[in-house]
Amino acid sequence: MSGFDLAVIGLGYVGMPLAKEATTAGLKVVGVDVDPRKVDALNAGRSYIDDLTDADLDHMLANGFSATLDASVLADSATIVICVPTPLDEDHRPDLSAVEGASATVAAHMVKGTLVVLESTTWPGTTDEVVRPLLEKTGLAAGLDFHLAFSPERIDPGNPKYGLRNTPKVVGGYTDTCRDRAAAFYARFVEQVVPVSGTREAEMAKLLENTYRHVNIALVNEMAIFCDELGVDLWEAIEAAATKPFGFQKFLPGPGVGGHCIPVDPSYLSYTVRKLGYPFRFVELAQEINERMPGYVVARAQRALNRQRKAVNGARVVLLGVTYKPDIADERETPALPVARALLDLGAELSFVDPHVSKWQVDGTDIPREADLAAAVEGADITVLLQPHAAFDLSVIEDKARLVLDTRGVLAEGSRVERL
Ligand SMILES: NC(=O)c1ccc[n+]([C@@H]2O[C@H](COP(=O)([O-])OP(=O)(O)OC[C@H]3O[C@@H](n4cnc5c(N)ncnc54)[C@H](O)[C@@H]3O)[C@@H](O)[C@H]2O)c1
Repeated sequence: MSGFDLAVIGLGYVGMPLAKEATTAGLKVVGVDVDPRKVDALNAGRSYIDDLTDADLDHMLANGFSATLDASVLADSATIVICVPTPLDEDHRPDLSAVEGASATVAAHMVKGTLVVLESTTWPGTTDEVVRPLLEKTGLAAGLDFHLAFSPERIDPGNPKYGLRNTPKVVGGYTDTCRDRAAAFYARFVEQVVPVSGTREAEMAKLLENTYRHVNIALVNEMAIFCDELGVDLWEAIEAAATKPFGFQKFLPGPGVGGHCIPVDPSYLSYTVRKLGYPFRFVELAQEINERMPGYVVARAQRALNRQRKAVNGARVVLLGVTYKPDIADERETPALPVARALLDLGAELSFVDPHVSKWQVDGTDIPREADLAAAVEGADITVLLQPHAAFDLSVIEDKARLVLDTRGVLAEGSRVERL
């Protein structure tokens, strides 16, 4: 009998919430990572994940969870779930090196009868064409000697309503039995499991979800640009459209997309389509529009200053919220970075306010952090609101700021407040 019900490989934003839910449901869970600092932090009860408090972690440790660098624990685990990063390489192509590395690690230790699930977001075919051959190097055959499945993680960091437990979990197996084994495993701690016919359908479901989001954000971003020129309040139009109870889902414009998923995942899909010899035009257009937004935000800030006969060069500019979305500390792919870079390039004196970020660097330069929101916006020639963290008192910004560009449409428009 196995010592562990579950081994999670990759103890990040996806792996740790999974380990938490499984531990809470009474499973015996071990976590494997290659980063000794993460392993040490977790075993010492220090969380580095927004959605996992130190108290959550203490509870996990008290209930048998531990983290390790030693992958030999995999031999003693009934189920192994791989949650390692799937970034893009320098040429913007999928970089599956972590998935390959983790699969080789599994192959080195896995025993007969194990269920192996990949959760990392990736192009359709990865589980079958990349992971399966690596696992079968053991001489064990998928579907016969071990079970293999793909189940996309849908975690939305910082979402107070939907977590792993109450978000339906899509599961596709290499065989029907693999799928049923994986579905039974997730049913132990997820309220609703959604079985699909194969691993490719499960992989594609995740890419469709994130591409849909990416494309719709690009749609409203492009509209924001021309609505400004047309003199139409897009924010009001969106709220009006959203009163339609069917056939419309609300998306809001902003300074660009960020995070590990939305700017990256659609490229996994367009990479797959390009192999067929033609482009995935929707994705490429959306990328072009969303990547242009930070530059557009800077141009709007420049225009607002210009109206006051001020140049960006030498202007004091404060950025509010430098993470990629509100109420979390994650800075990966944050649009604040290209915004800051362009403002620095134009000679702005930059500072930032962010209760979730204690130190922030742009290309190796420390950006001064302001602790007091009121003093920061009062002292700045222009305030650029990038992320509407709940901790920001919006009335302070409205009352005290000399000039504001609100890229999130959360402030009341007025003579000193301009919305994107
Ligand atoms: N962050 C999200 O909101 C989110 C949501 C849904 C899906 N995903 C997907 O989940 C996957 C993981 O993302 P994440 O945000 O958890 O990443 P992360 O960077 O937070 O964590 C990944 C962990 O894997 C570890 N790792 C890397 N290579 C390893 C190896 N060979 N063996 C063991 N550990 C290894 C890293 O040290 C790190 O701790 C990605 O494919 C991502 O696209 C992420």
